[in-house]
Amino acid sequence: MFDEIGGEPPRYPDLAGKVALVTGGSRGIGAETCRALAANGCEVAVNGRDRAAIDEVVAGIVAAGGAAVAAPGDVTDEAAVRRMRDTVERELGPVDVLAAFAGGQGAPAPTAELGADRWRAVIESDLTSVYLTVAAFLPGMIGRGGGSIITMSSAAGRRPSRANAAYAAAKAGVVMLTEHLAGEVGGHGIRVNCLAPSAVLNDRMRRSMSDGRLEELAAAYPLGRIGRPGDVAQAVLYLASDASSWVTGVTLDLTGGRVGA
Ligand SMILES: NC(=O)c1ccc[n+]([C@@H]2O[C@H](COP(=O)([O-])OP(=O)(O)OC[C@H]3O[C@@H](n4cnc5c(N)ncnc54)[C@H](OP(=O)(O)O)[C@@H]3O)[C@@H](O)[C@H]2O)c1
Repeated sequence: MFDEIGGEPPRYPDLAGKVALVTGGSRGIGAETCRALAANGCEVAVNGRDRAAIDEVVAGIVAAGGAAVAAPGDVTDEAAVRRMRDTVERELGPVDVLAAFAGGQGAPAPTAELGADRWRAVIESDLTSVYLTVAAFLPGMIGRGGGSIITMSSAAGRRPSRANAAYAAAKAGVVMLTEHLAGEVGGHGIRVNCLAPSAVLNDRMRRSMSDGRLEELAAAYPLGRIGRPGDVAQAVLYLASDASSWVTGVTLDLTGGRVGA
């Protein structure tokens, strides 16, 4: 993906040797984030539910000379998240960089037809999962006195959009969870920041949208294109590294210039 946005990811030397976990690292934005962190010398734990997809990301990183391990687990399941944490700590050691990116249940649906089951499932997938992930790693980070946590919101959590209402509410919740945590744990040397991308090309979009539709969508952005996973990964590198050591509680809108209304 970095080839598509112009070569190799930028380098932040302080990231070398750090341990990073990316939930939702098995595909899309998370997978590109894993590759960018590994290219910066991080040892990366790749989470997701699809073991084959996880293994493909791990194998790609290892083939490129990086270090990565599989950390499978459903992040809506508290016990599974704890098991995943134990696996990562056993195989790589304590986590310095935690990217809580798993989720993505934003498909449009009229609120009148959403139903309580779908509402709960989306909140579990896109908000509770972030809490469970952060809660599992926070005590260790507090004990060690440091860490960088990066959460994943969405443009849909910043203002009304076509995404379903549960997703919008969940992603807005991630913004407030991030701000709350940043204030709470800043004194322990832990920074907590959030990303709020607008449309970023993923496999689902590639499959479901024609080239013409993708071009139409791109034209709606002042910068004339939709986002790519590498655009998000570059922001992660900055927020993970000491380059952002005075930045916490921030939500970075990655929207190709589509801000405001
Ligand atoms: N693409 C966009 O336009 C866009 C815009 C704004 C925000 N986002 C957010 O960015 C994140 C990644 O999106 P994406 O577009 O890269 O989506 P994607 O290609 O569909 O990838 C989603 C990732 O999340 C993982 N995942 C989902 N639920 C999980 C669960 N319960 N436990 C563990 N892993 C889980 C998936 O793993 P498995 O498939 O292995 O289960 C996969 O790795 C999501 O939080 C999404 O809401 C995306």
